[in-house]
Amino acid sequence: MNPVIEKKHLRYLAQSAWTKPFRKFLYKRLPKDKPVSMLEVGCGTGVLVDCVKDEFRGKINLIAGVDLDRCVLDYAKDKTCFIAVQADGMKLPFSNESFEFVFCHYLLLWTYSPERVITEMKRVTKTGGLCAVMAEPDYGELEAKPESLTRLAQEQVMALERQGAKLNNGHCLGELFRSVGFQNCQAGCYQRGLVNRDFLAQEISQMIEDCGIQSFKIDEKVDYIYHVPTYYAYAVK
Ligand SMILES: C[S@@+](CC[C@H](N)C(=O)[O-])C[C@H]1O[C@@H](n2cnc3c(N)ncnc32)[C@H](O)[C@@H]1O
Repeated sequence: MNPVIEKKHLRYLAQSAWTKPFRKFLYKRLPKDKPVSMLEVGCGTGVLVDCVKDEFRGKINLIAGVDLDRCVLDYAKDKTCFIAVQADGMKLPFSNESFEFVFCHYLLLWTYSPERVITEMKRVTKTGGLCAVMAEPDYGELEAKPESLTRLAQEQVMALERQGAKLNNGHCLGELFRSVGFQNCQAGCYQRGLVNRDFLAQEISQMIEDCGIQSFKIDEKVDYIYHVPTYYAYAVK
């Protein structure tokens, strides 16, 4: 087992829990009278593919995922059964109108043209099908307090930018959907979650890992604020 991928997988698992209520909301917008085909773009280790398969149990007849990274796809295929294709979300290897449900989750920040990805997602969505960006963080609106945590969060932002991430897409999702021709899109921001100590400790350890800082000690007497606004958008084609 590759420990780097295993670690990514655990992170993706944690993130999938944050978006569960939104997935449930989306399922209500999918056709009920027939099984649906679905595609995740940027599927990583297959966490979301698994979630949707379980949560929307028995209602899916074809599951596909694409990712640029062969290693995460191999990991995903070892765990679950789906059509896993190594491909670029900006050039999907599927014909027009192939799937009833097309989505991505924490993907766009890693692509240099989110607009091209959404254009491709729209192209392969069937007429009447659902196209959704389930989660896109916006670090431009990040809130981290007190000052010690602000500095750490800023270091993380710079480290992610050095890795090529575009961190301010979140608030533009509605505009992006409209720019590719979705007139009826709905977009919004997830509610701020509870910042309990476990969550904070997990997020801080992720920040430390991302920016290579040695340590950060959580002071039990300090009230921390940490919030990365995370956006969603969806539209029926
Ligand atoms: C943060 S991970 C999220 C994985 C998965 N969606 C999840 O939430 O569990 C982003 C994934 O997108 C993939 N990716 C980045 N750019 C891509 C592109 N242009 N086309 C397809 N996949 C891409 C990365 O390889 C990575 O596996």
